Amino acid sequence: METLLLDSKTWLLVLTGAGVSAESGVPTFRGLNGLWEGQPVESVASPEGFAKDPLRVWRFYSQRRAGAAEVSPNPGHTALVEWERHLGDRFLLATQNVDGLHRRAGSQRIVEMHGNLFTTRCSNVDCKRAPFPDTTVYPDGTVPGCKDCGSLLRPHIVWFGEYLDPVDLETIQGFAQRAVKAGGRLVFLAAGTSGVVYPASGMVDQARAMGGETWLVNLETTESALRFKHFIQGKSGEVLPKLGRLV
Ligand SMILES: NC(=O)c1ccc[n+]([C@@H]2O[C@H](COP(=O)([O-])OP(=O)(O)OC[C@H]3O[C@@H](n4cnc5c(N)ncnc54)[C@H](O)[C@@H]3O)[C@@H](O)[C@H]2O)c1
Ligand SMILES: [Zn+2]
Repeated sequence: METLLLDSKTWLLVLTGAGVSAESGVPTFRGLNGLWEGQPVESVASPEGFAKDPLRVWRFYSQRRAGAAEVSPNPGHTALVEWERHLGDRFLLATQNVDGLHRRAGSQRIVEMHGNLFTTRCSNVDCKRAPFPDTTVYPDGTVPGCKDCGSLLRPHIVWFGEYLDPVDLETIQGFAQRAVKAGGRLVFLAAGTSGVVYPASGMVDQARAMGGETWLVNLETTESALRFKHFIQGKSGEVLPKLGRLV
């Protein structure tokens, strides 16, 4: 197997997707066949779905909270923590996962592009209340309300049809720009993601346009694999711990 050299010139930007948590026992949407309670996952992960049936949306996220609290990070998560310790500020992890497993493994330089399962916010965009940590598994049949304005609370998750936080995108772009400015070797590595969800899907093209090396670690070959220079097919929990050569 190829190895990825992580030396003092390397600036590593990692993007992870649901596949990285699969070995911890967190199902990917694909693993669920895109369905929950027999309906498309979009029905519980979109503003329209929330407007239509907030009880059902909270049932889904409460179940996911309970499920994510029971699982543990796997060797793929741990490998990324080791790489970060080695590279320091020349490492950034952008994740599409909301399960919090990267943080629990010890990752610190992390951008949670799709939000966090254990954060709740007010659904009223005019409400001043900031998103807050929330591990509550709400009993079926309840929807929490905002103590400031009385509107419904919602999970702090980027749903289908919603925009990513521009601050997060700037953090990612700023990292790549600093790498280039410093004359470093920019490496973009994606793991456990089908790469079809924008803008994650565009990150590989951006990295390449900036002269970066591109690596993909994924269980199955996807259409997006062709856009990476290096593709290693396999499970992230098996591949990542062997991939990095820390010098
Ligand atoms: N754990 C989570 O927080 C979680 C769970 C489900 C979905 N989501 C999010 O929902 C969106 C779409 O979800 P999706 O499930 O289609 O994910 P996705 O589009 O990121 O695809 C998952 C990819 O992971 C690959 N994969 C599966 N097991 C793997 C393993 N052990 N090692 C390496 N690769 C593996 C699959 O081949 C697939 O290509 C994404 O934003 C995703 O991150 C997050
Ligand atoms: Zn409010």
